[in-house]
Amino acid sequence: MAEAFSAQTLPAGKADRYGVLLGEIAAVLEGETNRVARMATVASLLAASFDTFFWTGFYVVDRDKPDELVVGPYQGTLGCLRIAFGRGVCGLAAAERQTVIVADVEAFPGHIACDSRSRSEIVVPVFDGDGGLIAVLDVDSTEPAAFDEADQAGLEAILRQSFAI
Ligand code: SME
Repeated sequence: MAEAFSAQTLPAGKADRYGVLLGEIAAVLEGETNRVARMATVASLLAASFDTFFWTGFYVVDRDKPDELVVGPYQGTLGCLRIAFGRGVCGLAAAERQTVIVADVEAFPGHIACDSRSRSEIVVPVFDGDGGLIAVLDVDSTEPAAFDEADQAGLEAILRQSFAI
């Protein structure tokens, strides 16, 4: 299962690839209720599925500081530890509770550059079963304009299935 699971063995089209991934993630997470385990699994499988994903991970709403995000499970180079709501792409997605796609991070005012190789990014809010914001998923690419509506739809579906439970 997971051994054969890689960008090379998955369908080439994004929508098909997200579709296969959705089923794989559901199978791996079945019966696991721990949220950290679920986030770590989603980050790992996403990062393994797309060669263009350079940094893939979660910023979690801090229980002690509810207007601040703190880094959670991720795959990639060192990320910043904390991001205030409203700051950077992650803070904007958290404050607005909406997916944000940035085609060119250098043109985004207030972008937080954790790694200067990042050129484009998508940040998707993560909700629990009651509709409460629990985190955002941040995916960065070294390619400009790497993300589109297919990524938004695919990632939103995976996050809904994995956390709105
Ligand atoms: N670029 C993000 C910060 C997180 S890192 O890239 C891992 C932002 O502007 O919110």
